[in-house]
Amino acid sequence: MLDNYNRDINYLRVSVTDRCNLRCRYCMPEEGVGNLGHYIILSLEDLARLIKIATTIGIRKVRLTGGEPLVRKNIIQLIRYISNIPEIDDLALTTNGILYPPMARELKDAGLNRVNLSLDTLSDEKYRFITRRGELKDALNAIFTALEMDMHPVKINTVIIRGFNDGEIMDFARMAYEYPLHIRFIEFMPIGDLHFWKEQRMISVDEVKKQIESEYTLEAARTIKGNGPAQYYKMAGGKGSIGFITPMSNHFCGLCNRIRMTADGKLRGCLYDKREVDLKAAIQAGASDEELRQLFIQAIDMKPARHHMDNGWGNENRRKMYQIGG
Ligand code: GTP
Ligand code: 5AD
Ligand code: SF4
Repeated sequence: MLDNYNRDINYLRVSVTDRCNLRCRYCMPEEGVGNLGHYIILSLEDLARLIKIATTIGIRKVRLTGGEPLVRKNIIQLIRYISNIPEIDDLALTTNGILYPPMARELKDAGLNRVNLSLDTLSDEKYRFITRRGELKDALNAIFTALEMDMHPVKINTVIIRGFNDGEIMDFARMAYEYPLHIRFIEFMPIGDLHFWKEQRMISVDEVKKQIESEYTLEAARTIKGNGPAQYYKMAGGKGSIGFITPMSNHFCGLCNRIRMTADGKLRGCLYDKREVDLKAAIQAGASDEELRQLFIQAIDMKPARHHMDNGWGNENRRKMYQIGG
């Protein structure tokens, strides 16, 4: 359906758990992560029911996020449920990849169309630093498994952080040149574990693009299959592409097509906006499909024209990234 700013909302991002097997510094605190209990999170059946209802207001794309979606028990069953909803024409997942390789075949067979994988560095040591507990070889193994499984287009999410991985921009560019991978450089947003966020660490994509253009010719590409905000460029002679996601330097809110559902059953109209609509409470109170449908409409009606991240994340009780799912 169209929202109040004439944007067609057809993409639902579903955070299926707030748990994660990593602790990326920009996303989660090291300790004291209050994982939601089983009685608080939506069941697989609730999720499937809500997604089916969402199709009646025009949702056609679903992306499962987390925390880390692959730590959610019976995720394969959820994918089966969703892929059996005929109105859904794209079902994707955003993952750190660590648990992906042994599940890859089953995920695909269950109906998963695509995976976006997070990878912020190509150095073993830096990978251990930023994730606090992951091994680079496992993340790389996931990426190459996705390629072997023909999960095209395989997209990589690289949050670009000054003083951490800004020296690796050309290494990532080379990766997109040599392999059919779509490397998306994402501007660091003041969301998540703000202990790590500093304005000076944010690098605008313009700077990244200039650096890549010193060695490669970039040519604006048609959108690579997907529903997100990235702008893509082909590299002359290269196999993959480079994408830029610019929430900070050039917000893409005017083209926003999405709403978000959290693991504890709240709908958010915007990543940044703390207002939420409570689906879980309605389900517990025995709401009908029509009543739940009205809650989706309410969340879409509440969507703001744009985010205001330039004012910072604020001190109010806002969720962290692992509780929203990016
Ligand atoms: P595709 O369907 O493949 O295009 O996926 P996507 O890019 O929408 O999904 P993904 O989960 O891989 O998100 C990539 C990055 O974009 C993450 O850092 C997200 O936080 C960011 N992102 C996605 N949607 C929004 C949004 O609505 N606002 C902002 N500010 N950032 C977003
Ligand atoms: N800024 C930009 N991207 C972020 N992500 C998590 N936190 C941030 C942040 N503060 C990215 C992750 C993952 C995706 C879902 O969101 O790297 O790829
Ligand atoms: Fe986990 Fe992703 Fe957050 Fe890293 S960014 S801690 S992988 S949810």
